[in-house]
Amino acid sequence: MSGVNEIRSTFLNYFKKNGHEIVASSPLVPRNDPTLMFTNAGMVQFKNVFTGVEQRPYSRATTSQKCVRAGGKHNDLDNVGYTARHHTFFEMLGNFSFGDYFKEEAISLAWNLITREFGLSKDKLTVTVYHTDDAAFDLWKKVAGLPEERIIRIATSDNFWAMGDTGPCGPCSEIFYDHGDSIWGGPPGSPDEDGDRFIEIWNLVFMQFEQVTKEQRVDLPRPSIDTGMGLERLAAVLQGKHDNYDIDLFQTLIHASEEATGVKAEGQFRASHRVIADHLRSSSFLIADGVLPSNEGRGYVLRRIMRRAMRHAQLLGAKDPLMYRLLPALVREMGQAYPELIRAESLISETLKLEETRFRKTLERGLGLLGEATETLGEGDSLDGETAFKLYDTFGFPLDLTQDALRQRGISVDTEGFSAAMERQKAEARAHWSGSGDAATETIWFAVRDKVGATEFLGYETEKAEGVITALVRDGALVDSAGEGDAVSIVVNQTPFYAESGGQQGDTGTISGDGFTVSITDTQKKNDGVFVHIGTVTKGTAKKDAPVELSVDHVRRTRIRSNHSATHLLHEALRETLGTHVAQKGSLVAPDRLRFDFSHPKPISDKELAVIEDLANEIVLQNAPVTTRLMAVDDAIAEGAMALFGEKYGDEVRVVSMGTALHGEKAGKSYSTELCGGTHVRATGDIGLIRVVSEGAVAAGVRRLEALTGEAARRYLEEQDERVKAIAGVLKSTPAETLARVSALMDERRKLERELTEARKQLALAGPSSGGAQSETVNGVTFIGKVVSGVNPRDLKPLADDAKKTVGSGVVTFIGVSDDGKASAVVGVTDDLVGKYSAVDLVRIASAALGGAGGGGRPDMAQAGGPDGSRAEEAVSAVREALAG
Ligand code: SER
Repeated sequence: MSGVNEIRSTFLNYFKKNGHEIVASSPLVPRNDPTLMFTNAGMVQFKNVFTGVEQRPYSRATTSQKCVRAGGKHNDLDNVGYTARHHTFFEMLGNFSFGDYFKEEAISLAWNLITREFGLSKDKLTVTVYHTDDAAFDLWKKVAGLPEERIIRIATSDNFWAMGDTGPCGPCSEIFYDHGDSIWGGPPGSPDEDGDRFIEIWNLVFMQFEQVTKEQRVDLPRPSIDTGMGLERLAAVLQGKHDNYDIDLFQTLIHASEEATGVKAEGQFRASHRVIADHLRSSSFLIADGVLPSNEGRGYVLRRIMRRAMRHAQLLGAKDPLMYRLLPALVREMGQAYPELIRAESLISETLKLEETRFRKTLERGLGLLGEATETLGEGDSLDGETAFKLYDTFGFPLDLTQDALRQRGISVDTEGFSAAMERQKAEARAHWSGSGDAATETIWFAVRDKVGATEFLGYETEKAEGVITALVRDGALVDSAGEGDAVSIVVNQTPFYAESGGQQGDTGTISGDGFTVSITDTQKKNDGVFVHIGTVTKGTAKKDAPVELSVDHVRRTRIRSNHSATHLLHEALRETLGTHVAQKGSLVAPDRLRFDFSHPKPISDKELAVIEDLANEIVLQNAPVTTRLMAVDDAIAEGAMALFGEKYGDEVRVVSMGTALHGEKAGKSYSTELCGGTHVRATGDIGLIRVVSEGAVAAGVRRLEALTGEAARRYLEEQDERVKAIAGVLKSTPAETLARVSALMDERRKLERELTEARKQLALAGPSSGGAQSETVNGVTFIGKVVSGVNPRDLKPLADDAKKTVGSGVVTFIGVSDDGKASAVVGVTDDLVGKYSAVDLVRIASAALGGAGGGGRPDMAQAGGPDGSRAEEAVSAVREALAG
């Protein structure tokens, strides 16, 4: 007997031996199909390869594809737990030929695998073909040697497989396994075909056509093959079981749930353990692929699955959250085949725990209300829609949870009444809202939000995706189409474009559809989660309802990611260096730089800045993975996550952590942990390098850092380097010697300045023959009066002192004129004349002549300034006249 893991690898290796490429499962959230809620078949990732739009380097492939059938078109949720073969999550094994082999080889490969490799007896197998497909009929006879009565022609759509209303399609042939006459049922096409005896195990689709529109079907460029086999069903057959939940993988999960609850999977509890095992798989894989519980879209389907399981945990009497405790068993069973489970284990664990902790609070009260409301009801009755809506609205009971809770008692729910109650509440909210002032300008987005719901954001996982235009706005009004050159705002049901928030700028890129392209220059979030892509139609006509391909400018987004992660590292490095008073006050994460404002009372020294930069770069060099988790806001903050004071957070927050602290109390723990909705690098090494380029004040107590990362940082350093080289060139030196050379030059310059001042002083005092000062006698007093230029104002006084000494007895005046035309005056009076003249009075006279006022000093030496240096000679004359009396 082979285990599930062995069966999976036997299948893949068999096709590998037969020239097929083993291709990894694509994510559960399809990126190449806007109409599909979850990946529900192996061929989804190859849709465009079949139609010839996409080329791959191989023409044969094999996969084990993760599939979810819950919500959307295929919804098996309600049945799970109560039947032998319904799952919300399952694995589909498949082999594909893209215009390589066709029917004959497909049939022969399949027959060989199940009869030889897996050893199934030919007697147990029956096949079906599409009623007109004689070729397939003959091939089964020829290749498998099956008697004609076990090749059954089926005329219904059961044997014509189509992906959806449009897309690749073709007739198919199914292989059935006969579980024996102990089980009721007849072969396909017989009146008893709905019994459980003959079970379809493999569907071979002969892809021949593409359904382009409802009416038009064209041939595919080359006939192809798509097959799908449910791994769980095959495992049941190979393990001699009739029920999928009896295979090894499910038994391991069910045992884990039995152990954790102490309740055996028997009687009334059997279904609960099955629900838990199944829903644990779908929830964990969905979370690993980027879906988080929410009240809308995919997130709501996940929440419904999780809550349904949680109610069953409660039925088993679990006192504490149960699901997350079963996760290790799932990771052990499936982590090797799907490493994403291992990578996301802590995110899955915390998300499960959080949802269950919160939901348990209302679950019991809600069940109490449900009990009361249905006390008098019996089999065949129906619960009123109002109560079902109250359970939904007040206690968070998804409708299907209420239905599931009443199922065993045979009570249904009035779903129409439920929808009516929901509609009424929405209408009330709308009426209430339209009265509220300033938001009225955004009426249009409110209408859009109401009609199309919140946009599903795929951008944490991908930069390219397909979607459908749900609203098109031009000149402030909703329109059905917009032509070339029109400025438009576009809403799409799902998008990889990040809408500006938390300082991170909105994404740019292109949205293109059949014959048109819109260049997107910004993305903004409106009204509670509507992502608005703002841009211009550059080609063709954009139309509402058109399927489109959305592509984010990858280079720009990559730079933004680096700058955002670097912001977190700098934030932590600032706190580590300056203290925990550092708190974010503002932030800009742009493609070309980052700006971070934070509280700190004084400038940061160069030394501190160097330490901050070193610390942040230390984590860059760790190349540590950046991890994201979803937590309750209080738990996240208790764990030390940095949150912005005054910021409003939802109940659940995204927590981004990076690096391992190397120093201080946090050593060994996560280096940076922040509440953040932004997009980040995968590992810190992707940042490359962080370089702080400026530090300054923005307001009292708030400082600002600007920094560059990666290529921009490298280019900045290169420019600095070029500059040093250019300086070295001018100095005729080498970059390494520039500092010594410049210091020497500065010393030399200071020395020369000193010498020059001295020389000028000497010149000022020298005799007339050398252009120096000349003394004269005025009113019997020796007087030196001179205009000097090029002498520093502070050297005028020493000049006057020297002159006083030279004359012995007398009055000296020097007027200095600076390069910018201003003047300063100094007057000195020798001690013997101080009784007669005051230097202060005289300098004021000089200053007045220079257009100034004032001046000060002592009676023997005073100084003043004046704005008008052109009147220097007049100032000398004024002093002379004052002496003359
Ligand atoms: N696409 C087909 C199916 O889902 C075969 O893989 O059944």
